[in-house]
Amino acid sequence: MAISGIDLSIREGECIAILGENGSGKTTLVKHINGLLKPSSGSVLLSGEDIKGKTIAEIARKVGFVFQNPDHMIFADTVEEEVSFGPRNFAMDPEKIKEKVSQILAFTRLEQYRDTHPMSLSGGEKQRLALASIIVSDPEVLILDEPTTGLDFKSVNSMIALIREIRDRGKTIILITHDMGLVSHVAERVVLMKDGAIIKDGTLKEVFSDEDALGLTFLEQPYALKLSLAWNRGANITPDELVNAILEEER
Ligand SMILES: Nc1ncnc2c1ncn2[C@@H]1O[C@H](COP(=O)(O)OP(=O)(O)OP(=O)(O)O)[C@@H](O)[C@H]1O
Ligand SMILES: [Mg+2]
Repeated sequence: MAISGIDLSIREGECIAILGENGSGKTTLVKHINGLLKPSSGSVLLSGEDIKGKTIAEIARKVGFVFQNPDHMIFADTVEEEVSFGPRNFAMDPEKIKEKVSQILAFTRLEQYRDTHPMSLSGGEKQRLALASIIVSDPEVLILDEPTTGLDFKSVNSMIALIREIRDRGKTIILITHDMGLVSHVAERVVLMKDGAIIKDGTLKEVFSDEDALGLTFLEQPYALKLSLAWNRGANITPDELVNAILEEER
C-alpha cells in the first residue's frame, strides 16, 4: 500500500506544504483529496461531506489540482482555449468565460500568448498556464504538485508571488514541493511524509526546527533558518524575518 494510517484535517484558508522524499506518498495522498484515488479504508471529507458519493467532476469544482507535469494537463490548440476549457465544462455563461479568462491571463502574465499553441510555451509559462487553467474555475481548494520544479529563479519568484496572492484571497492551498524557499515563503503549516505515513505535522517553525524529523526525510533547513540559528538569532525561517530580527536587535 502506498500510504496508510493518514489522519489529516486541513482548515479552510490554510496553506499547507507536504514534504518528503521521492516515493514517500505525497502525490498519492493528494490524489485522495480530489477523488482521483479512493481509500481502501477510511474516508475523505470535503466541507464535512464524504466525497465517496461524488463524481470526479463534482469534486473538481471544489478542488483544483495542478499536476506535477504541466504537459499532462495541456490538450487545447491555444492558450485561450486551454484556459476556457474548465469553465465551459462547468457550463459558465460564454460572456462570463471570456471576461474571466482575460482576467486570469492577465493575472498569470500570459496575455501575449493568448493565441499561442500551449506546447510552444517555455517551461515556466507552461506551469503558469497549468495554474491558470485551474484557478479560472475558482476552486475553493487548490492542490499544487511541485509547481516550481525546473523553473529558474525569476520564474520561481513569479510563481511564489502568484501563490501568495491566491492564498491571500482566502483559498485553501495544498502544496507539494522540494523547494524549501517556496515553502518558507508561502506555507504556514508543514506536513512531513515518510514511507506512506505522516511523521510530523506542525507550523512552519515547529517542523523546520525539528532537525531529527527533517533528517528522517532527508530535508535541509532553509538557508535563512540555518543562518539564524547559527547566529543565535532564533528560528527565523524567511530571509525577511532574519533581517527584521537583526534590525530589531540593533534598535
Ligand atoms: N497506482 C499505484 N499502485 C501501486 N503503487 C503505486 C501507485 N501509485 C504510486 N505507487 C507507489 O507509491 C509510492 C508513493 O508514490 P507517490 O507518487 O505518491 O510519491 P511522491 O511522494 O509523490 O514522490 P515524488 O516526490 O517522486 O513525486 C511509490 O513507491 C509509488 O511507486
Ligand atoms: Mg509526486
